[in-house]
Amino acid sequence: MTNVVYLCDTNTLPDFSMTHPLFAAAVALRVAWEEENGESELHPITVERTWQQWCQASKDGQKELWLLLAKEESELASTPEQTQITPRVQEINGAEDEVASITSGQPKVIGLATLSYDKKDESQLAFLWTLMAKSWRGIGLGKHLIEKLESRVKAAGKTIIETKLYSPPVAFQNTDSSNQSNEPDFLQVPSNEEAIKLGYKIGLIEIVNARQLPLEENTKNLLAQKASRASKYEKLAWSYDHFPPTKAGDSAATAASFMRLFNQSNQDVPAGDLAVDNYEISLATYRKWMEHYQLAGHELWHVALADEQGEIVAFADVEIYPGKTQAHQKLTVVSRHARGLGLGWAIKAWLHESLEQNFGQLKILSTNNAIDNYSILAINEAMGFSEKMRVAFAQKTLS
Ligand SMILES: CC(C)(COP(=O)(O)OP(=O)(O)OC[C@H]1O[C@@H](n2cnc3c(N)ncnc32)[C@H](O)[C@@H]1OP(=O)(O)O)[C@@H](O)C(=O)NCCC(=O)NCCS
Repeated sequence: MTNVVYLCDTNTLPDFSMTHPLFAAAVALRVAWEEENGESELHPITVERTWQQWCQASKDGQKELWLLLAKEESELASTPEQTQITPRVQEINGAEDEVASITSGQPKVIGLATLSYDKKDESQLAFLWTLMAKSWRGIGLGKHLIEKLESRVKAAGKTIIETKLYSPPVAFQNTDSSNQSNEPDFLQVPSNEEAIKLGYKIGLIEIVNARQLPLEENTKNLLAQKASRASKYEKLAWSYDHFPPTKAGDSAATAASFMRLFNQSNQDVPAGDLAVDNYEISLATYRKWMEHYQLAGHELWHVALADEQGEIVAFADVEIYPGKTQAHQKLTVVSRHARGLGLGWAIKAWLHESLEQNFGQLKILSTNNAIDNYSILAINEAMGFSEKMRVAFAQKTLS
């Protein structure tokens, strides 16, 4: 495995900073390619231009892109001492023309950060993601950008800021004409050590597991055999929030039971020592989230199992990236009263059956699992998923 992984964007800079699952999937794809072909050369992944749509979809939540800019491209040739850099931090909230002018010309972007948070008072968390140009590292600019963003989070009334630290570290390569080399030119900051120095504490470690699709016959047989314990449940599948799923009887009751299970999962998915927002998500809020995926051109595929009363007892969802060859499985949850009876296996079996029927061109499926979530890790391992990287979730409480 290489120490640094690349995500290639065929276009401009801000667009590829979109979602973390996308990042994980890109990495999984990269590593899977290596495993398959024994190659170490770069395999580019195209990421659609979606930043503007993503910003525009932020109604209840705030999504911001901050760019650290060098005034002149020529400054890159000089030493920091000589250039007297005055970093300009620019905030963009869905202002399309501003994004366009920055990406198409001067000044040069040397660092960027995305910040997102829920505007609701009950929510205390904000999420930060920062990248710095390799040639501008080590002179305090990354720290400057992060501190700017922390004060911004405080001003928004949020108290906790969270960031993700990937291991092995990740880097982006901007493939526009300005980059002639094959080197990654943007590195994720802070590094693990820098995060600790800046007051961030690691609260949870997840394993990024992935495997290639389609499943082999013996894996399908294993799933079918394990799932046979839970064969009496009705199988449902739907895209985005398209309730009612085709076979469900009372759509309102199905939707309500879906939200009950979804909110349960919010509390039950292991969070380690992380502070989490545990307020109830309404169907209306869930629908708004779905709009984000739709606007970004990502398919969100849901599968569920319902009991005789129509109550959803198991659920899984998958984010399918543009191009439909890569996907990330987001959530797997079984209702509390029905755990340990084979429904975890059954929902995975139904998920894969349904993906094969509807997204037969998928090549890579990735998923994140908390390092101590033994039952889901056991299921995934038996299905041929293996570790590609780790991600530590680090939080800082702002005083
Ligand atoms: C994770 C979850 C979906 C599993 O569902 P479930 O109905 O309990 O799972 P099943 O009964 O189908 O299977 C669990 C498997 O894990 C195995 N398992 C359980 N504890 C284990 C442990 N400590 N070590 C190894 N394997 C373990 C079981 O033996 C079983 O496998 P088997 O049938 O081959 O014996 C469920 O516990 C859940 O909803 N948890 C909360 C949400 C969550 O954490 N989701 C996953 C993160 S996305």
